[in-house]
Amino acid sequence: MLNKLLTLLMILVGLNVYAQPTIAVADRDAILLDGKWRYIVDPMENGYYNYRYQVNPNGFFKDQKMANESDLVEYNFDTSSQLNVPGDWNTQEDDLFFYEGTVWYKKSFLYSKSDKRAFLYFGAVNYDAKVYLNGEKLGEHQGGFTPFNFEVTDKVKDGENFVIVKVDNKRKLEQIPTVNSDWYNFGGITRSVKLIEVPKTFVQDYSLQIKKGSLNEIEGWVQLDGKSPKTVKVEIPEAKVSVTAQPDANGLAKVSFKSKLKLWSDKDPKRYEVKISVGEDVVTDKIGFRSIEVKGQDILLNGESVFLKGISIHEVAPFTAGRVVAPEQCRTLLNWAKELGCNFVRLAHYPHNEDMVRIADEMGLMVWSEIPVYWTIDWENDKVFANAQKQLVDMITRDKNRAAVIMWSVANETPISEPRTDFLRRLTETARATDNTRLLTGALEAHSIDGYRMLDDPFGQYLDVIGVNNYCGWYGGTPESCADLGWKMTYNKPLVISEFGGGALQGMHGTATERWTEEYQEAVYENNIEMLKNIPFLRGTTPWILMDFFSARRPLPDIQDYWNRKGLISDQGIRKKAFFTLQEYYQESPVQLKK
Ligand code: GCU
Repeated sequence: MLNKLLTLLMILVGLNVYAQPTIAVADRDAILLDGKWRYIVDPMENGYYNYRYQVNPNGFFKDQKMANESDLVEYNFDTSSQLNVPGDWNTQEDDLFFYEGTVWYKKSFLYSKSDKRAFLYFGAVNYDAKVYLNGEKLGEHQGGFTPFNFEVTDKVKDGENFVIVKVDNKRKLEQIPTVNSDWYNFGGITRSVKLIEVPKTFVQDYSLQIKKGSLNEIEGWVQLDGKSPKTVKVEIPEAKVSVTAQPDANGLAKVSFKSKLKLWSDKDPKRYEVKISVGEDVVTDKIGFRSIEVKGQDILLNGESVFLKGISIHEVAPFTAGRVVAPEQCRTLLNWAKELGCNFVRLAHYPHNEDMVRIADEMGLMVWSEIPVYWTIDWENDKVFANAQKQLVDMITRDKNRAAVIMWSVANETPISEPRTDFLRRLTETARATDNTRLLTGALEAHSIDGYRMLDDPFGQYLDVIGVNNYCGWYGGTPESCADLGWKMTYNKPLVISEFGGGALQGMHGTATERWTEEYQEAVYENNIEMLKNIPFLRGTTPWILMDFFSARRPLPDIQDYWNRKGLISDQGIRKKAFFTLQEYYQESPVQLKK
């Protein structure tokens, strides 16, 4: 057991060289490094390896200049083109639409040193990032959807500095996700880059939420980074809460107190201003307090059974169809979900940007958040497990203070096998050890028996909520065949149909039997909704999907053109007929369920 743990530790360190605990950014002041970055496309990775394919100590990260007119330097960031950061390169440059490989990014910036500590923070980079400051390697990170940072206090200079990042979005069998996925492999520095300044002793992270099984006991902790342990104060001014705690030798201060707070809910998403102070460092955040649990086939929000009227959403911007890069784009997507009548969103298939979760928190939309353990992962590879585990812990770490997040999902549509179920079981153990307050779920595999859909996937025994994707009327059967489709499940747990639906080219009209017409998609929704009404243990659904999105798997000319057309809304924001079919179902309140 010990050597397995040691292996895991070595892999974790190897996986994210010099990885440091991520700073809870919250509303911290920061120097934003977003904007135009110089870039160099490097498909042969000639800027990293020499011709023997060994790491070149004088690679592009040195940003060499010609010392005199006879010098040979065959690259120049300062005369290269520019990309926007945050942003994917695929939708910024036509000749990069299908590009998968290395792109080098460079940003110069001025800095005035002070007695503060400085951290270089990345919201996300897809997929492999190698980061250099002033020609010196800070470290690297794998994984396209979670934040990371490096302390640069002793490396950032007074005056001119430059940061260079080697970004490689090549898909690999031993990555999470693996080589096959039905979303666009957007490469780039896809979320904000910040230089965060903090005092010598500062609040590195914190957690504050209602104690599991309670409705008026709050518990939490504050993790300090830095010497001279000082008293930590946690305040909720509106609730007249002010508590102090002493950090232990590791800088960890625990708090717990009773308070009759107004609970967060989808109908009234109450959040409190929380203030955490230690010495000169003060961090504020808006936190909601609620309980979420399962009881038999029910999901209980603050002790009351709730039906999750949801929709699946990819982190794809309306109108541009690239990665979401601005909070306004999140608000558009979530307003569309609200217009549908949703109280729940499945942020598929990877952790979305932090704004998406914070705005869902503000709007009263409950969230299913998930890591991209998707389809045919390399289940028996310890490095792959360590990668999945790190992405899971990083997702939970970033969003653990968001009341809206009620479920963590650890897998989507993974073929059943002994290694797969063991891999996923170990992920659920990590999730529960990291956060014992939220529900665990995943999209499991169903099969057909005597005309029924049977859910007895062994992975379900480790979950609180059973999820399953089911494409009756699209990947099998006619739309009409779905209305009477029955379901059986071997678990006495809540079921969420985490995907159903079908494709339609917006504006294409015909009969309900003609594929790709809006009428066909409408018939798929009408009949699947009849099916839903007959599932007594159903407690929610997140149909696939809010908006059309790019997918390299969908080349059908004049219909798909590399788009997945299952959106209820086109990429230009035009609602298809099935949008109104789902909206009508959600407006029946409470949603009809035949016992
Ligand atoms: C799968 C998968 C989605 C995919 C969808 C589809 O269920 O989970 O990621 O986009 O089906 O085929 O459109």
